[in-house]
Amino acid sequence: MPLVLGIETSCDDTGAGLVRDGVLLGDALASSMDEHARFGGVVPEIAARAHLQALRPMVEHALDRAGVALCDVDAVAVTAGPGLATAVQIGLAAGKAYALALGVPLYGVHHLAGHAAVDTLEHGPLPPSCVALVVSGGHTSLLLLGDLARDPITHLGDTVDDAAGEAFDKVVRLLGLPYPGGPAIDRAARDGDPVAIRFPRPLTGPGDARYGFSFSGLKTAVARWVERHDGPVPVPDVAASFQEAVADTLSRKAVAACRDHSVDTLLMVGGVAANSRVRALTAQRCAAAGITLRVPGPRLCTDNGAMIAAAGDLLVRAGVAPDRLDLAADPSAVLRGALLHGPRGR
Ligand code: KG4
Ligand code: ZN
Repeated sequence: MPLVLGIETSCDDTGAGLVRDGVLLGDALASSMDEHARFGGVVPEIAARAHLQALRPMVEHALDRAGVALCDVDAVAVTAGPGLATAVQIGLAAGKAYALALGVPLYGVHHLAGHAAVDTLEHGPLPPSCVALVVSGGHTSLLLLGDLARDPITHLGDTVDDAAGEAFDKVVRLLGLPYPGGPAIDRAARDGDPVAIRFPRPLTGPGDARYGFSFSGLKTAVARWVERHDGPVPVPDVAASFQEAVADTLSRKAVAACRDHSVDTLLMVGGVAANSRVRALTAQRCAAAGITLRVPGPRLCTDNGAMIAAAGDLLVRAGVAPDRLDLAADPSAVLRGALLHGPRGR
C-alpha cells in the first residue's frame, strides 16, 4: 500500500503527517500561535516565515515518529487552499519540491476536505453518504458527502458572514481573554452558567435559511451586552452563554439536515468541533434522533498534517489522477471535492 506524506500550512500551524491505508503512522505539528497572540489574530507574513523554518523539521519529525524514510514516500498531498495566501504558498512549494525530488505524484488537497478525511484515521472508512458539519476559524458549512475522494460535495448551507471560530476569536477580545478564542472560552465557560444570558440563536426562525449560518450578529449581541452591563463583566457566564448559543445553533441545524436528507451519520470536524459543549450537545441531540455522530478527537479537529495525508491516502486508494506540478494555490477555493480542483478520475 502506498505511503502518503501530507503537508499543511494554511494558517499558523505547520503540520506533516504520514498515512498508509487509512492508518496514521506518525505526525508532527509546530505552531506560530505565540508569535501572533499580541496582535490578537494571525499575521500572514509572520505565519509564512514560521512555516518556512518549521516545515523541513516537521517532515523529519513525522518520518522519525512513523519509523520510515523519506525515500519510502509514494505520494505527496499538500493543502493548496483555502487559507492565507502566503502561508499556503510555502507548503505548496515544499510539497512540489518533495514530489519532484522523490519522483512521486502530487495531490493538491482542499483544506476542508482534509478536516473531513481525518476522521477516517480514528473511526475507519466513512459511510457511503453522510452530512458533514465543518466548523473552523474561516468556515462554517453543512455539507452532503458521498465518496469523499470521488464525488462532488453538495453545500446545504454556509455562513453568510463570520464563521463560528471567528466569532469565538472576536468574543475573546471583548472579554479580555487571550487569542485564540475557542480554547479560552471553553476554559472560562467551565465556571459559568450557560443560561445566565439568553444570546440570540441566529437564523433559527421559521422563515430563515434552514441550513444557513450567521455569527456576526451573535458577536455584536455579546458586545452590546458587555457595553450595557454595569460593574465587572461576569466573564464565565458570558463565555458559557455565548458558547451555548453557538452549540445550540450548530447542533440544531446539523441534526435537521440529517433528518431532512434521511442520513443517519453526522460528521463534525474543524477547530470548533474541539469545543467541549459543542461536542456534548451535538452528541446528546444525535443520540436522541438516532443519528451516529462521528467527531475526531480534539487534537485532530484543529489543523494538522495528518488530515492532509488522510485526504491524500483516500485519493491515492481511489485511483484519482494526481495534479500537475504547476498546480496553483487558491487562497479562497470553494469546497467541491477532496482535490482543490474538484473531483476527477471518473
Ligand atoms: O480548523 P482550525 O484549526 O483552523 C481553520 O481551518 O480555521 O480552526 C481554528 C478555529 C479558531 O477559530 C479557534 O478559536 C477554534 O477553531 N477553536 C475552538 C476550540 N479550539 C479551537 N473553538 C471553540 N472551542 C474550542 N475548544
Ligand atoms: Zn482548518
